[in-house]
Amino acid sequence: MNFFEPIDGELACEGVRLTEIAQAVGTPVYVYSSATLERHYTVLTDALVGQGLKGRDGAAPLIAFAVKANSNLAVLKTLARLGAGADTVSEGEIRRALAAGIPAERIVFSGVGKTAQEIEFALKAGVSEINVESEPEMHLISTIAQRLGLRAPIALRVNPDVSAGGHAKIATGKSDNKFGVSISEAERLYAQASNNAGLNPVGVTCHIGSQITDLAPLEAAFAKMARLVARLRADGLSVERLDLGGGLGVPYFDQPEPATPADYAAMIARTLGDLDIALSFEPGRMIAANAGVLLAKVLHIHERPEGRKFVVLDAAMNDLIRPAMYDAYHDLRPVRPRPGPADTYDVVGPVCETGDTFTRDRRLPSLEAGDLVAFMSAGAYGAVMASEYNSRLLVPEVLVRGDQFAIVRPRPTYEDMLAREVVPDWV
Ligand code: LLP
Repeated sequence: MNFFEPIDGELACEGVRLTEIAQAVGTPVYVYSSATLERHYTVLTDALVGQGLKGRDGAAPLIAFAVKANSNLAVLKTLARLGAGADTVSEGEIRRALAAGIPAERIVFSGVGKTAQEIEFALKAGVSEINVESEPEMHLISTIAQRLGLRAPIALRVNPDVSAGGHAKIATGKSDNKFGVSISEAERLYAQASNNAGLNPVGVTCHIGSQITDLAPLEAAFAKMARLVARLRADGLSVERLDLGGGLGVPYFDQPEPATPADYAAMIARTLGDLDIALSFEPGRMIAANAGVLLAKVLHIHERPEGRKFVVLDAAMNDLIRPAMYDAYHDLRPVRPRPGPADTYDVVGPVCETGDTFTRDRRLPSLEAGDLVAFMSAGAYGAVMASEYNSRLLVPEVLVRGDQFAIVRPRPTYEDMLAREVVPDWV
């Protein structure tokens, strides 16, 4: 459920009409709904708590929002105020989480290629755990921690070798992916970490992929993790925490309803409920995707004599890359639907390559130049993946709460863009 509904026939975000935002900020622009972010966070927490699932010290499980999905400080602060933690994959993301007021003890640091500088930064900041992805990385963390006189809290990321379906570019849980250590090595490495003066292994973690709408692969992975925890404990090792990685996929279109947070929580209770372990989660998409839209304007309707009709927008692949990169589908809605027949269009942006196509052969309501349209479900992996390709200004972001809105990342000026670069005097 989200809070993008029409007011008097015109698409709005909570109490603010999208036309008002387009007039004030221009297009393209991302628009986020605070109420939707809060609702998704709360529904997930309530579902987990409702199943009796626990986090550290018997509290609710930690929901460490995956900052990579949407790293805007105002979005992070909206979630921080509800008690969210952060799943981070770079020093930049840790700094963002801290700046948004997320306490270090609710920050998890993941990622396959952390640099020594990033590890040192994370340890000094006091993050709750570093999720270790490989044996050499474990040794590097130990060396740095010992130099700092610390024992680094680590969780071992285990690759459960489960195929999750979905797009190959975002599947992570098979042993031929770069992520995590093989389950066959986990016991040896965890035991090694337990005897290492620079390491404090607090638990294990897994993440098998993103946009997973079927519970079966998740259940298979979690069951393998439960058996691993039991084996580690049988070896006399302490395993306090289990981090279950990213969250569920979301419905991008009228697909058979994906598993709900309630189904997800029930499955976890069934698979892991008896384990007596502190659970944590790293959801990004299920919290942020349906909380944001990319608002764009129709520049032209361009018809070829052969019959194809193109809707040319002022938004491009540099603003929303998911269709070009993953063949992703985003629902596209006119902000102020006009009377007139529906038609079949290719929807494209102005960037000079054919890949700058949002969709082909899409049946859409009547559209004319100047109309505003909204790409739905663009709040996760939208603005964060934007670039300035073709020297297009970085897309701005707006956050709505009730009937107020604020620009939470302004559109830079062309002067800002040029001023970042330096031409040496010998050129
Ligand atoms: N934890 C880890 C270790 C991850 O690698 C990811 C996502 C998450 C959590 C969050 O997963 P989520 O709850 O959002 O499914 N750019 C792609 C998605 C890449 C996901 C990468 N990892 C897209 O636009 O679909």
